[in-house]
Amino acid sequence: MISKDIYQAAYFLEKNDIIAIPTETVYGLAANIYSEIAIKKIFETKGRPQNNPLIVHIGTKDAVFDLVTHIPEKAKILIDKFWPGPLTLVLPKKDTVSNSITSGKDTVAIRMPNHPDTLKLLQLIKFPIAAPSANPFGSISPTTAQHVANYFENTIPMILDGGDCTNGIESTIIGFENEIPVLYRLGSIAVEDIESEIGAIHINNFEEQKPNAPGMMLKHYAPSTPTLLVSNVTDAIDHYKNKKIGLLTFTSKYSSPNLAHQEILSNNSNINEAATNLYAAMHRLDRLHLDLIIAEEFPNNQLGRAINDRLKRASKKE
Ligand code: TXA
Ligand code: MG
Repeated sequence: MISKDIYQAAYFLEKNDIIAIPTETVYGLAANIYSEIAIKKIFETKGRPQNNPLIVHIGTKDAVFDLVTHIPEKAKILIDKFWPGPLTLVLPKKDTVSNSITSGKDTVAIRMPNHPDTLKLLQLIKFPIAAPSANPFGSISPTTAQHVANYFENTIPMILDGGDCTNGIESTIIGFENEIPVLYRLGSIAVEDIESEIGAIHINNFEEQKPNAPGMMLKHYAPSTPTLLVSNVTDAIDHYKNKKIGLLTFTSKYSSPNLAHQEILSNNSNINEAATNLYAAMHRLDRLHLDLIIAEEFPNNQLGRAINDRLKRASKKE
């Protein structure tokens, strides 16, 4: 059921059910963090491996103190600047945060989302919610209530409809190792914007086999249609001229007889708008029964870097 009823949403969460909630990044699959039953339902519903921890969503900045034992100075600066907003901080957890949320880690990922309906919901229920993106593990994240319904209409009791997600890409995740900030996942807040607040951050090599955040696993965010990320679209179209192709580009328009459909993410080269539109475009392309989706590499700075990261994972073979 897709509904705008925040009280109904609170009712389900209070009785250990899981529901989909809107955030500014993507829709989440939400559970009361103090309900082991509800948390178990999240892992089952998503088909998510147990070793992949969840993000806890809080309704006020102060709620972070209930969950963590220490907040590094630079984390405090980031909280002041970016909460509520698409920034997740990984901090040392209190014992009250269950191991089933953190997959046994001694840290917990936390953010205060910037969506009016979900903030209101968090005020009503008075407990934080754990919420991964509301998609089956590995598939394209949802940025509309309808995307969630396409995946889970028959398995969850309610999708709280808060409209289209305004940012469209998951939160940026920052952890701290000996007080040094480390980027765990590229996301909706550009690295440049974080560094202008707290100076240089350590950036892991995301292609490594052992990522800090399992969401940085190699194949992820993937359409069921084979997807290719290329720097030269014309060559790629030419190379696959016997295939029915769907194209995903930043601003350029291409034409070719075997191009069945093209998604342009921003007509006026606005990288934030491109990020907002990315997943919806991928969902549309994936429904067209194409042989191949060809995606064009984005400029590798600001949010272009996060978009390239998602497209790289979407196009990984395994
Ligand atoms: O924008 C978002 O962050 C969305 C919305 C719903 O808030 N949520 C989201 O959740 O993207 P999910 O579960 O799809 O991704 C959470 C990521 C995973 O990569 C997970 O491994 C990482 O956060 N994570 C969670 N706890 C962690 C921890 N203690 N240490 C390192 N990474 C952690
Ligand atoms: Mg996800």
